Formats: sequence, C-alpha cells, structure tokens
Amino acid sequence: MSLATADFTFLCDLVARHSGNIIAARHAGMLEQRLVGVAGSVGARDLPSLVKRLRDSGDLALSDQVAEAVTVNETRFFRDEHLFEALRSYIIPELIRKNAKRKEIRIWSAACSSGQEPYSVAMVLREYFPQLSDWRINIVATDLSLQMLQRVQAGTYSQLEVSRGVSPKNLVRFFDRSGAGWQIKQELRDMIEVQRVNLTRPWPYMGQFDIALVRNVLIYFDRQTKNDILKRVRGALRPEGYLFIGAAETLIGLSVPYQRREIDATIIYRPTNC
Ligand SMILES: C[S@@+](CC[C@H](N)C(=O)[O-])C[C@H]1O[C@@H](n2cnc3c(N)ncnc32)[C@H](O)[C@@H]1O
Repeated sequence: MSLATADFTFLCDLVARHSGNIIAARHAGMLEQRLVGVAGSVGARDLPSLVKRLRDSGDLALSDQVAEAVTVNETRFFRDEHLFEALRSYIIPELIRKNAKRKEIRIWSAACSSGQEPYSVAMVLREYFPQLSDWRINIVATDLSLQMLQRVQAGTYSQLEVSRGVSPKNLVRFFDRSGAGWQIKQELRDMIEVQRVNLTRPWPYMGQFDIALVRNVLIYFDRQTKNDILKRVRGALRPEGYLFIGAAETLIGLSVPYQRREIDATIIYRPTNC
C-alpha cells in the first residue's frame, strides 16, 4: 500500500527529528519498503496503522526504530583506497613521530555502519606498523544503528562482503572461516570499541582523537546539521588531528573550523584554531 502524502511527510519529519536524516520524495519507495519490517515487528497491520500508532502514542523507542530502519548502511572494506594509502604512507608515520612519548593513537569511526571502515583501519595498522605492538591503539566505532553495532562487535562478514575490498593476503591473515562466511580475528576485534552515538544529539565525552572518520554520512544531513556536527567533531579532535569525510562529500559552503589539505589523491582536513 502506498503512503498518503500526509503520512509520508509525518515520517520524514520524525526521521529528521530523530536522526537528522533528510529523506527525499524520490525515496518514498525505500521508506515504505524498510518500514514494512518495522510494522510487522510491532504487530501493526500495515504502514498507515504504524503511522497512526506513532502519531497517537509518541512512542520514542518506536520512533528510534523507524529512524534506524531507514538509515543507509552501504559500506565496504577499504572504501576509497587512497585514504588508506594516505594513512599508511603519511598520517600514521607522522602520528608515530608526534605521539612517541604517550605511545597512543586514537581513531574515531563516527558512522561505522557494519564495521568495514574501522576494521580496514585496524588492518592497515597491524599490517604495516609492527612497531605499534606496544602502543595503545584505540579505534572507537560508533553509529546510530544498534543493529549495525552488533555486526561490528560480531565481526562476521559474508563471502560477498569480504570480496568487496579484502585482498587474499589480508583474508588469510586477519579472518577465520565462520560457517559460509568469515570472522575478523580476535586480535583485530580487540582493537575496536563499540559505542552508540547519534551524531545529531549531544554525545558522551570520548576523549580526544588523532583521526576522525566522518565519511559518507554528512550527505544525509541538512547544512545546519552538518555545520553543528563538524564543529563538535572539531572539539573531539586533538589540535593536530585529522578529519576525513567521504570522497564524494565536501565542506565547501559550510562554516566549519577546518583547513583543507591534499595528500596525493586524498583530501584531508586539519582543525583550525578557534
Ligand atoms: C553509508 S553508511 C557509511 C559507512 C562508512 N562510514 C563508510 O563510509 O563506508 C552511513 C552510516 O551512518 C549512520 N548514521 C546515519 N545517521 C546517523 C546519525 N544521526 N548518527 C550516527 N550515525 C548515523 C547509518 O546508520 C549508517 O550506518
């Protein structure tokens, strides 16, 4: 059944309030498809009944469930390969020099989806930097979606998912067979700390990070929300830290405290003093 315009508008407003995600009219079909599952899981007969329940009850948990169900979780291992090349050849060596005294590197994957991004970073660190074996490496993986965070914690991926980005060498070195799929080895899972963070809400103090990856999530927010999130991410970065956004994303047109720099094919952002 197709959603009435008023119900579609109600759902878009609800999602925007709960996750900041803006749903375009052309994505109405996607919204309906995703919400059929939510309706079923709470015993609502159909989508209009689900909308009625949301309107009548103002149920916050159900609203969160709706917002979570319509997130786009597309990701893959080593997405935008040149970013990982910049980490390997420039950024991690620089952090090793700068942080030599405290022997610690902290990285935040701020919309980590099912974990391919933080695990790709962990593989780079383990593969190329054996000298970090006695350092404290902390990769904090956060997302709005609890379902995604459970996947990060499990670290299990299908054959198709590993075929998207994991080299045969890395597969042998960093994964164990798990049924028809694969599981990231404990050694890498131990490097990742999982936490639920809604970027559009105040987040708990997580300490300061050397690198923040806020990739392929800004596209779902409006301009004001992007400005607000990026300013608060600035506060979570060390003064000499690095921000990465998605290859298809830009800070042009935003008023945010970062300077753009290029390392080969990779665009990175450094905090400005503010
Ligand atoms: C397309 S994925 C990007 C995954 C990964 N960063 C990458 O580049 O491959 C977008 C992720 O952002 C998350 N997300 C959407 N809105 C969010 C919000 N308000 N707070 C935190 N995460 C959010 C979604 O749950 C989804 O997992």
